[in-house]
Amino acid sequence: MIILAIDTSCDDTSAAVLMDDRILANVVSSQVDLHKDWGGVVPDIAMRAHKERIEAVIAEAIKRSQISDLRFQKHIKKDEKIKEIIAKGMEKIEVIAVTKGSGLAPALSVGVNKAKELAIEFDKKLVAVNHIEGHILSVLAKNRAGRPERQIEWPALALTISGGHTKIVRISGIGKYEVVGETLDDAAGEALDKAAKQMGLGYPGGPVIERLAESGNDNFMELPRPLKDRKDFDYSFSGLKTAFYYQIKKLTNEEINEHLTDYAASYQRAVFETLLMKYGKAIDEYKVKSLIAVGGVMANQKLRKMLGKLARDKKIPIYFPVKKILNTDNAGMIGLVGYFQALRGEFVENKAELDRDPRMEIGN
Ligand code: KG4
Ligand code: ZN
Repeated sequence: MIILAIDTSCDDTSAAVLMDDRILANVVSSQVDLHKDWGGVVPDIAMRAHKERIEAVIAEAIKRSQISDLRFQKHIKKDEKIKEIIAKGMEKIEVIAVTKGSGLAPALSVGVNKAKELAIEFDKKLVAVNHIEGHILSVLAKNRAGRPERQIEWPALALTISGGHTKIVRISGIGKYEVVGETLDDAAGEALDKAAKQMGLGYPGGPVIERLAESGNDNFMELPRPLKDRKDFDYSFSGLKTAFYYQIKKLTNEEINEHLTDYAASYQRAVFETLLMKYGKAIDEYKVKSLIAVGGVMANQKLRKMLGKLARDKKIPIYFPVKKILNTDNAGMIGLVGYFQALRGEFVENKAELDRDPRMEIGN
């Protein structure tokens, strides 16, 4: 089954082509440069950029996937070429999978509209995908050669952490999910991004904080571990962010810069220890066979090490996405969910009526 997948849930314009569960091409056009001056993603700017880029990104994914023989007459105009590449790709593509939610409404609508348009024009089956499920199943992604061959045993417990969400999800099988814990306010990635912004470190903050933290003293600042004593598996990061805010606010720029690495390390540690504490408790409660750790923040090597150790202590295998591109938003993971949904025959019945769902939930 050849699948075209599209994700425009936040600030990355992405398209992928898959053959079953093998990703043949996964193209991501990042908008970081457009948003960084604002210290976060601006929905209208994201929407405009998605609109400008979506066709070229789809064409690039089709080109790289090599599903079509693409030979063109010389002197063909760029826009016409893009349309022609898409049309040729559509001769091979059978299913179109698109992120329906969750995400930023104006951004999501660009991908959903493009997927609908193509599915109607070329008479293709259409699948509406949950973005979080995409992150979770990203650990099952395979390359063109069908590797890696992972036999993940269910039930599993997934920790999904990105700029928009922080959730612990119990998975009894592909397509069967139950949220057992989630953030009550800010997401973990958002908490890193906001602290970075306060220290004047730009956007996105997670990678910058990671780099600075490597040489910092993570005991330098005293910070809370929110909801530590509560029995449930929910998170809260706004109190931690505020505690950090008030400590930093008292300082001059020179004082901040003098101990920048120490502030970054202490804050990162507080965020990560909070994440692990609740996840560890949930692992004890649910007695699963596998652990899954996904989402943009999982690009962080320190966090991966901490989770690796937690998994060893609990004697349960843990799975991370195998490639960097699979951690952050990408359409490859959406295509993978689309593939499993298509196997179950879960297609959109009325293509023209498909709408985005910015607050789309998973499971339950
Ligand atoms: O999954 P993602 O690309 O987009 C959302 O769905 O939100 O995640 C983006 C988030 C941002 O908050 C970013 O700061 C964080 O992931 N992030 C990192 C790292 N790389 C990206 N956080 C910590 N360390 C990193 N290396
Ligand atoms: Zn995401």
